[in-house]
Amino acid sequence: MNRPYVICHMVTSLDGKVTGKFLYTPQCESATELYYQINRDYQADGYACGRVTMEGSFTGGWYPDLSEFEPAYSPMDYLVDDLTGFYAVAFDPHGKLGWKSSTIIDDDPGYGGAQVIEVLTHQVSGRYLTYLQSMGIPYIFAGDTEIDIEEALFKLKAYFGIHKLLLEGGSILNGAFQRASVIDELSLVVAPIVADAEDKPLFMDSAIENYALEDVRYQNGTLWLSYKRYCQCGNTLN
Ligand SMILES: NC(=O)c1ccc[n+]([C@@H]2O[C@H](COP(=O)([O-])OP(=O)(O)OC[C@H]3O[C@@H](n4cnc5c(N)ncnc54)[C@H](OP(=O)(O)O)[C@@H]3O)[C@@H](O)[C@H]2O)c1
Repeated sequence: MNRPYVICHMVTSLDGKVTGKFLYTPQCESATELYYQINRDYQADGYACGRVTMEGSFTGGWYPDLSEFEPAYSPMDYLVDDLTGFYAVAFDPHGKLGWKSSTIIDDDPGYGGAQVIEVLTHQVSGRYLTYLQSMGIPYIFAGDTEIDIEEALFKLKAYFGIHKLLLEGGSILNGAFQRASVIDELSLVVAPIVADAEDKPLFMDSAIENYALEDVRYQNGTLWLSYKRYCQCGNTLN
C-alpha cells in the first residue's frame, strides 16, 4: 500500500454518535478508559484528528499573533530533521491551529511526545507557514481548497514513514476518510448511553461500505468492536 493502514478508533454512544455531552458523563468513564488503553495497544506510528478535535484536546484555541511573521508563501512541503517517529497529524485546511510546542504535551504515552504535522490546503496564509517553520513544525500540502485525503496519506507514508495511523475524530474528518474509502479497520468502544439529538455521527456524510466483524471484547459494561473493511475481492484487508 502506498499509504498508511488506517484504523478509525472512536468512543461511540449506543446510537452511533461521537460528539457531545455524553462523552463527559459517568456512564462513559469506563469506555473512555478502555479507549485510551486500546489506543496504546495499537502501537501506531501516529494519530490523526480534525482541526476541531485538535483544538479541543490539545491547543485549547490559542493562536499566535501572525503579524509578527513575514508573509512568505511557498507552496512547498516543509520537513524538519530529528523527527520522533511518532506523530500527531492535524488536518487543518486553513491553518487555524496555534501550537506552543512542536510536540504534544500529554501524560498519556498514547498521545504525549508526538511530533505535530500540519496537513494544509493552499488556502493557508504565508504568515502561518512562517510561524510553523519558526516552531519547527513540519507541514504538507494536500489539496487546493479542500484536503485531498489520499494525497495526504501518501505523503505521510512517503515522508514520515507512517505505516499505521489511528484516525481519532471527529465526525467531519472521519466522514472525509470514509468517503475516500481509506479506513481499513474500525475500532469502536461503545458506551452504554444514548446521545443528544444534535450530536454528530461516527461519519458525517458517509457512503455505503462493507465491514466484517473481527473481534469483540467486553469490559466493565463497555463493548469494544473491531471490524475490517472488505476489499472488492470479498476478503478483509490485513
Ligand atoms: N468519541 C470520540 O472518540 C471522539 C474522538 C475525537 C473527537 N471527538 C469529538 O469530536 C468533536 C469534533 O468533531 P467535529 O466533527 O466537529 O470536527 P473535527 O472532525 O474534529 O474537525 C473538523 C474540521 O477539520 C477540518 N478538516 C480537515 N479535513 C477536512 C476535510 N477533508 N473535510 C472537511 N473538514 C476538514 C475543518 O477545519 P476548518 O473548519 O478549519 O476548515 C473542519 O471544520 C469534538 O467535540 C470531540 O469531543 C470524539
